[in-house]
Amino acid sequence: MKQPFATLAAVLAASLLISCLCVKSSAAPRTPTFASDIAPIIYQNCASCHHAGQVAPFSLTSYQDVEQHAQTIAAATQIRYMPPWHVDNPGLFQNSRHLTAAQITLLKEWVKAGCPRGNMKLAPAAPHYNKAGWIMGTPDAVYVPSRSYQLAAAGSDVYRCFVIHTNYPTDRWVKSVEIRPGNYHVVHHIICYLDTSGAARKLEAATHDGQPGYISFGGPGFPAKGMLGGWAPGTQPMTMPHNVGILLPKGADIVMQVHYHKDGKQETDLSHVGLIFCKKPVDKKMLIMPLLQFNLNIPPNDPNYIATAQLKVPANVHLLSVFPHMHLLGHTMNVTCTLPSGKSFPLVTVPDWNFNWQGFYTYKKPLAVPAGSVLHLTASYNNTESNPFNPHNPPVMVHWGDQTTDEMCLCFITFTVDQQHLLQNTAYAPGQNTK
Ligand code: HEC
Repeated sequence: MKQPFATLAAVLAASLLISCLCVKSSAAPRTPTFASDIAPIIYQNCASCHHAGQVAPFSLTSYQDVEQHAQTIAAATQIRYMPPWHVDNPGLFQNSRHLTAAQITLLKEWVKAGCPRGNMKLAPAAPHYNKAGWIMGTPDAVYVPSRSYQLAAAGSDVYRCFVIHTNYPTDRWVKSVEIRPGNYHVVHHIICYLDTSGAARKLEAATHDGQPGYISFGGPGFPAKGMLGGWAPGTQPMTMPHNVGILLPKGADIVMQVHYHKDGKQETDLSHVGLIFCKKPVDKKMLIMPLLQFNLNIPPNDPNYIATAQLKVPANVHLLSVFPHMHLLGHTMNVTCTLPSGKSFPLVTVPDWNFNWQGFYTYKKPLAVPAGSVLHLTASYNNTESNPFNPHNPPVMVHWGDQTTDEMCLCFITFTVDQQHLLQNTAYAPGQNTK
């Protein structure tokens, strides 16, 4: 994140200069106020990360908070450094954090006017978060590894899998998942797999390094029964639409794979996963398909290496969300769907990939995709020195791999199958899916 900081400092200096030169403008039709204009923008687009216990370094949940950071807020939004939102599909996704140009101007004008409060009686209520910092609300169950993991100061990245027993005697359906790293300095990303075979327990039992869990690069080291979702900076909690659940099979272990990136200091981490269970019977199971291209041979000094992937959809489905993923050379990713009629529409467009901000982008409404449709992925990579994130100087040939310095070309897509109706098949739908 070095690059944006430099730019931000420059913009900040410029905006301070401008605000010194400006006297409060009386020509403006109306001065924006915190109560009517600013609080709604901040509470809706910023507070979810900017509150105690979350990823951002300070809270933005009151007038005082916002006023205290007013100058940097104006600057950071002006250059679209904040809020992080790295896809280009207005209107397609829910929880969009995209600010309009008008909202950005309001923030700037408000700061210029000296941050007036306005009539605070009209201000929206400050957002209330669970005391423990959960965004999705109070979880029904919280899982953590048996104890903290100690990470050495230096060396290559670590992929550690923690085996967490759930011990439910019946299948459970999960409505929302929120994964929270214990240590934002070193947790790079987390994926929660499910295991019902006991394989993960065996891998842990065979590990004798005095620490919880076991090492496994890439996958979890066994064929996973399913996934409970993942976390990377910017990821929001995942919540299923009406009637849909994520299956947590009875007796399953949650295998929490944490990718650690060392920061030069000894660190400890204890990451959490919180679940909210479905309180009503579930008709459809959430499934995940990866659209990916393993065959990556990105030559040094190629500013625009292109990788593609395709997948023909075998049944009528509804798409719930997408999770684009590349590493440090990734520049753009474009995923589209072509219907059997030949008509195409975008599934997600990433105009300027930023490795530091990743997550599931959830469609406002599940997207209907009929059998025979083709999903296309096109990604581009910049393996030159002009890419500020390039980990190799001089650039080298890069292939698919698990290390941050390798590459990936991948988009996870969550979906449901139209023909599936668990409510009509009581043998499959667990009756105990009410809490
Ligand atoms: C997805 C999480 C997330 C959201 C949403 C978010 N922020 Fe941030 N914000 C962060 C994190 C993490 C940092 C610290 C790391 C960094 O600066 O990149 C940060 C840093 C900042 C900074 C400090 C930048 C600096 O100069 O150091 C400002 C100002 C800021 N955010 C304002 C906002 C505003 C205003 C919004 C909403 C319009 C917003 N943020 C939304 C996560 C978020």
